Amino acid sequence: MSEVRFDGRVAIVTGSGGGLGRAHALLLASRGAKVVVNDLGGARDGTGAGSAMADQVVAEIAAAGGEATPDYHGVDTAEGGEAIVKTALDAYGKLDILINNAGILRDRAFHNLTEEDWEKVLAVHLKGAFCVTQPAFRVMRQNGYGRIVFTTSAAGLYGNFGQTNYGAAKMALVGLMNTLKIEGQKYNIKANTIAPLAASRLTEDIFPPAMHDKLKPEYVSPIVAYLCSEECEDSGSVFTAAAGYFGRAAMVESKGVFFDDAGKVSIEDVRDSIAKIKDMSGADEFPNANAEGMSRVFTRLQGAPAQ
Ligand code: NAI
Repeated sequence: MSEVRFDGRVAIVTGSGGGLGRAHALLLASRGAKVVVNDLGGARDGTGAGSAMADQVVAEIAAAGGEATPDYHGVDTAEGGEAIVKTALDAYGKLDILINNAGILRDRAFHNLTEEDWEKVLAVHLKGAFCVTQPAFRVMRQNGYGRIVFTTSAAGLYGNFGQTNYGAAKMALVGLMNTLKIEGQKYNIKANTIAPLAASRLTEDIFPPAMHDKLKPEYVSPIVAYLCSEECEDSGSVFTAAAGYFGRAAMVESKGVFFDDAGKVSIEDVRDSIAKIKDMSGADEFPNANAEGMSRVFTRLQGAPAQ
């Protein structure tokens, strides 16, 4: 069996001073990648900062015979994102792989959510992904090669009590990826997203301790590393991963219902057809929002029978 290798490749893993990011960084480094271990080193709610977390993981990689450089910038400003990419370029002269993984939590029921908790969570997850990915994408575009991974969550894909801020940010990353996959296509830049589950400091009080051993962060990393590899042909997909399980999640649309005269459709017509409108048998997944994505409507408008 041939081994997937990252020799000569340079990777940034944001928030890799612990948890999932650390596991991704260790795996990539063990297969030959040079890794920038970025971590702000703060608390779980995004307060504080320090160099110890990134330094620790860099030391672990070095002890295992790998190559890594620490970076302590926050992902959530344009300057921070630029500086993180600069760390990779200064240390290794190039950049091939970016894993957007940094994250915080500020859970609260929606009616109690403060503007600050909304903004801080969106700043780290969503704006942070923008701030690091844009300078990274520019470098990758010039080099005609790139692998980008975003980290979403079941809380964004499906919802979770107390996580409106987090869920909104996480689902927005899927939207970011959906367009980046199109803009990166001709430069051999693939963008994918993972929805992991793992015992980490973010989830230590959520999963029962007995499950922690079964939900090790390193059980998620093989698919992340695959998505970062030259062999990866996918772009624009969302993969779920935890405890040895791997799957794919997707946005699909039902066949829907067409009424002959759009101007005459009543509320009652919709009510009486709601089961058929919602019926997901034969649902389609679309590669983009234009021709294919709207094919039923466009086909209909052009006079051809709807598929
Ligand atoms: P973690 O707390 O161990 O890792 C997050 C890391 O991001 C921390 O080391 C933290 O210092 C760093 N960080 C926070 N703000 C930063 C900033 N502004 N700039 C740079 N680094 C920053 O938690 P975990 O679980 O490993 O989370 C990793 C990612 O996976 C997060 O995006 C999280 O939302 C996501 N995730 C985790 C799940 C889980 O079950 N653990 C479930 C779904 C998503």
